Amino acid sequence: MRSSTMVTMFGIAAVVAAIGVLFLSGPNESEEPKTPADFGRRLFRVQGCSSCHAIGGGISRGPDLAAVIPRLRARLADSEYRKHLSILKKSREDIYALFTTEYDNVLKAQGDARIRVWFAQHLNNPRFDHYLGQMPSFAHLTPQQVGYLTAFIFTLQ
Ligand code: HEC
Repeated sequence: MRSSTMVTMFGIAAVVAAIGVLFLSGPNESEEPKTPADFGRRLFRVQGCSSCHAIGGGISRGPDLAAVIPRLRARLADSEYRKHLSILKKSREDIYALFTTEYDNVLKAQGDARIRVWFAQHLNNPRFDHYLGQMPSFAHLTPQQVGYLTAFIFTLQ
């Protein structure tokens, strides 16, 4: 076989292989994350959040996180959250005393900033606001990773 024919055949084979790779890899998983929310989506999987939290259906040990942001917005609204804390203070004074600084930090933040503060505390120690809860602590996450996960959960409107 002439060497120019060989070169052409290799060329064709390379193009076919490249097309194959493009078709076999899914559009999202193979793409490098670009935005903070993309990085957060990947962390959600890598850190094992997705093993407990479905997003819109599927088996979920923890709450399904579809529309978690409007839910948290309602739960953390000033009157709701103060009511929740005053019940906690009466029923479990020991827990309330343990996390007073955290509750104050949540109450100090307004609007969506309050959701960010709450979520960062929740990752650091989920017992702070679910004292009988099942979610493990993610205190090992860096502030940057917490920021990425926050950007991701804010897409769950
Ligand atoms: C072992 C299971 C488990 C893992 C892993 C887990 N969670 Fe959770 N999560 C829960 C449970 C259960 C709750 C409900 C509160 C509780 O029990 O602490 C919860 C609550 C939440 C809530 C509040 C939901 C609501 O509707 O109020 C958010 C947000 C959340 N988790 C995000 C995450 C993120 C982000 C990760 C990964 C960094 C994660 N979770 C990992 C089990 C888990």
